Amino acid sequence: MCGICGIVGHQPASPIAFEALRRLEYRGYDSAGIATLTAAGNIERRRAAGKLDNLEYVLKEHPLPGTTGIGHTRWATHGAPTENNAHPHEAGRVAIVHNGIIENFATLKKELEAKGRVFVTETDSETVAHLVDEYLGQGLAPREAAFAAIKRLEGAYAIAMIFKDHEGLLIGARHGAPLAVGYGNGEMFLGSDSIALAPMARKMTYLEDGDWCELTPGHVTIFDMTGAEVSRPVQDLTFMAGQVGKDGYRHYMEKELHEHPVAIGQTLKRITDPASKRIALPEMPFDPAQVPRITITACGSAYYAGMVGRYWLESLARIPVEIDVASEMRYREPPQPDKGVALLISQSGETADTLGVLRSLKKAGQSIVSVLNVEHSTMGRESDLVLGMDAGPEISVASTKAFTAQLSVLAALAIDFARARGTMDQAREERLTASLLDLPSRAAEVFTRTKDIQAMAAVVAQARDVLYLGRGICTPIAFEGALKLKEISYIHAEAYAAGELKHGPISLIDQTVPVVAIAPSTILFDKTLSNLQEAKARGGRILAFTDAEGAKRLEGVAEQVVIMPDVDAFVAPILYAIPVQMLAYEVALLKGTDVDQPRNLAKSVTVE
Ligand code: F6R
Repeated sequence: MCGICGIVGHQPASPIAFEALRRLEYRGYDSAGIATLTAAGNIERRRAAGKLDNLEYVLKEHPLPGTTGIGHTRWATHGAPTENNAHPHEAGRVAIVHNGIIENFATLKKELEAKGRVFVTETDSETVAHLVDEYLGQGLAPREAAFAAIKRLEGAYAIAMIFKDHEGLLIGARHGAPLAVGYGNGEMFLGSDSIALAPMARKMTYLEDGDWCELTPGHVTIFDMTGAEVSRPVQDLTFMAGQVGKDGYRHYMEKELHEHPVAIGQTLKRITDPASKRIALPEMPFDPAQVPRITITACGSAYYAGMVGRYWLESLARIPVEIDVASEMRYREPPQPDKGVALLISQSGETADTLGVLRSLKKAGQSIVSVLNVEHSTMGRESDLVLGMDAGPEISVASTKAFTAQLSVLAALAIDFARARGTMDQAREERLTASLLDLPSRAAEVFTRTKDIQAMAAVVAQARDVLYLGRGICTPIAFEGALKLKEISYIHAEAYAAGELKHGPISLIDQTVPVVAIAPSTILFDKTLSNLQEAKARGGRILAFTDAEGAKRLEGVAEQVVIMPDVDAFVAPILYAIPVQMLAYEVALLKGTDVDQPRNLAKSVTVE
């Protein structure tokens, strides 16, 4: 949700900022801009509405000089995605870039306007530039002026600022939105995440909430919200520069879909004992046998992973589970049990809604366990225990491999809890673990079904509305399929538990509404089959993901089937998520949409 970067050093700042923005573009692509300091100490800006390519064109025509600079790629919150609203925002002696929302901007703006300041954009962010400049005008030095301004901001922000006549000075601040400092050779950088910093820095420091910092070439001083100097750990950058290319694939999403087997395999490797082939999670900061309830919270695809996790935890470990999307959970104030565990699921570890729940459940005395891909994220740092996935960087806005990696961790967690709570005998544990460890190979097999998925996509791409149906543990996979289709192909899709069809949505069905069924031939298959027959009887065109046995039984009912490898019902939701996502991808290709950067979206949603 907006990406920001900053550079102080000895090389031209603009190309470095541009490269960082390329790597941050997944966070928003409504507009982009860069500002640098000229040799004469003046601030110069280049901005463009739309994607980074537009800014690249502007920069080619009008390059920016200077070795101190800031950059921004925007996901619009306040104000239309125009060039005028694009960051960096400049006011007098300062230029700033901002990710987040300044909640008290209206009050600050009124106060600044009363002092004669003229605002030229519709953004909340411009207030920050005026506020800093106001303090500079009162005679404060840049560092003091920045601190005075930061103290007055409410809401969520990561900010970078440069100052007229102060070459080699960059100030950053974070509260509620991520910001990292990168260490180069006689150069320093700021970036919204490690991916941005990877090509230019080998070491980095994540700022903590309330931290702000002053960067000069080769040096950083970090302060906390009281203004006291603090030291924060310096880490090696885990994502190397080369890891985020497309490797010959047409889109990041295509590449990341093909990385499912590796993401699952790498994730399981971390949580399995190679000798015994048993699940070996890190030690819990509580006794799983004594946990009265788990509260699962997440957003979007991560929430659907949580829904599958609930099935596993309830059925295998016999533990009550409460689950909701983070934006609802945060304001529901459900009573929390003594010794309860909060389980947060997030690819980025920065999603504002999920982070908000983490903090409120921590306050409510729950032990915080998070399932994260970016382990050093804010959620990671604020959790009692991080169960890391190892999916690698996920750049495409639509989540793919992180979803199956999340499911792999949740499946392992359910086995671990079941063992600790004595609800599963060893034979069953071994069978389920073996099916999990076999998944990377089965996942790789799914790509041999691409032609069948493309045939199905040809039908779906013609539709205006699509219904996705699942039952039991595969219902969340229907939700995942519908979300992915909406997200990247802009086709309206709804997902239902198949049994709910007759309670309302069946009235939607006619020949123009394909019904996509997630139907492995497991225990609920007969019931799903009846539901699909009901849909077919109303003219519905049935398209099914099933296995060889299911395909036989769907003859005469389904118009098309994708026959999946046979797997244990336990891991079916993980495997079936892959073709469901592939279907959305193939439909998006047919529709010619912008697969990696679908309209109106951004990855890592760091505003509420
Ligand atoms: C869907 C998608 C989103 C994310 C959601 C949570 O394809 O990408 O729904 O799953 O925004 O993001 P994280 O997992 O980063 O908290």
